[in-house]
Amino acid sequence: MPTKIEKDAITGTETTGHEWDGIKELNTPLPKWWLYTFYATIVFAVIYVILYPAIPLGGGEYTKGVLGFSQRAVLENEMAELHSERSVYMDRFIAASMEEIIEDAELQNYAMAGGRVAFADNCVPCHGAGGAGGPGYPSLADDDWLWGGTLEDIYTTLQNGVRWADNEETRTSQMPAFAVDEILNAGQINDVAEYVLSLSNSASDAQAAERGAVVFAENCAVCHGESGEGMRELGAPKLNDSIWLFGGDKETIVETISKSRGGVMPAWGGRLDDVTLKQLTIYVHSLGGGE
Ligand code: HEC
Ligand code: HEC
Repeated sequence: MPTKIEKDAITGTETTGHEWDGIKELNTPLPKWWLYTFYATIVFAVIYVILYPAIPLGGGEYTKGVLGFSQRAVLENEMAELHSERSVYMDRFIAASMEEIIEDAELQNYAMAGGRVAFADNCVPCHGAGGAGGPGYPSLADDDWLWGGTLEDIYTTLQNGVRWADNEETRTSQMPAFAVDEILNAGQINDVAEYVLSLSNSASDAQAAERGAVVFAENCAVCHGESGEGMRELGAPKLNDSIWLFGGDKETIVETISKSRGGVMPAWGGRLDDVTLKQLTIYVHSLGGGE
């Protein structure tokens, strides 16, 4: 350490007293703004350490700070608040019938939001985006229902599935495979297919259709109705409209009659909880064809 403070002749700044080959180091003071900011951070750090958890002590221990603050506790409080807010909703949702839910804007929003997500997760692979359907998978967005389009009907279909072997209450019916089971011969199948075409005003051979009408009355009307109006108790589709589950061209109709189809939908009752089933029902009901 130099004993006497020396000033640099040119700048007038004190030197540190260090000298290398005649060059002396200036002891330039730090800028004031920098220095005060630095002091402020020290004061802040000291106060912080006193008030808040700060220094790890090893073994999971740490200085707790006089305020007793804990992020974990804050999170727990927030979660508890959220749960209690939600459970008010949930309790109301669970207690309400589906009819009541669609009357109540708040509950309906809740149902639609949940239903939309559950639909995308579980139903879109078969029923398509927005329930548009496809060959073998009914559209859920139109007025044509196999098993019924009321809230009750949709809920029952969802809960128990269609022809789902693991569920005793599943919706079920089976159209006979008229060729495979040798109930009708090829000529009769051709005729009745022509008659089915005529029901929906598609181009058909009038004579064959006339013969087919007799075959239809004897073999098909029990399920599809006298004039092809369909029957929901049996999930038998309407044949007198232009909406087709499997296809309305002659070839597809002949194949349906010959081999029958037997579409299967899983029962969702055991897989999804009741709140989700209600949400899905309300969502599907809202897609366009709800009754
Ligand atoms: C594995 C494919 C598959 C999945 C996944 C599926 N479905 Fe289906 N669903 C079907 C088939 C096939 C039918 C028609 C069965 C028949 O021929 O009657 C059907 C019928 C329905 C019906 C009756 C339609 C009517 O006209 O009466 C509703 C409602 C329905 N599904 C809703 C849903 C919902 C909601 C989901 C998701 C939770 C879902 N489905 C998932 C295959 C599926
Ligand atoms: C036991 C009841 C039952 C009888 C009898 C029956 N069907 Fe069906 N039919 C159904 C059901 C149920 C479906 C559709 C669901 C499935 O199989 O997936 C169907 C589907 C069809 C379809 C397909 C419709 C579409 O939208 O793609 C045609 C066509 C049809 N039947 C014609 C006939 C004809 C013709 C006869 C008589 C020769 C007949 N059915 C007899 C129950 C029956």
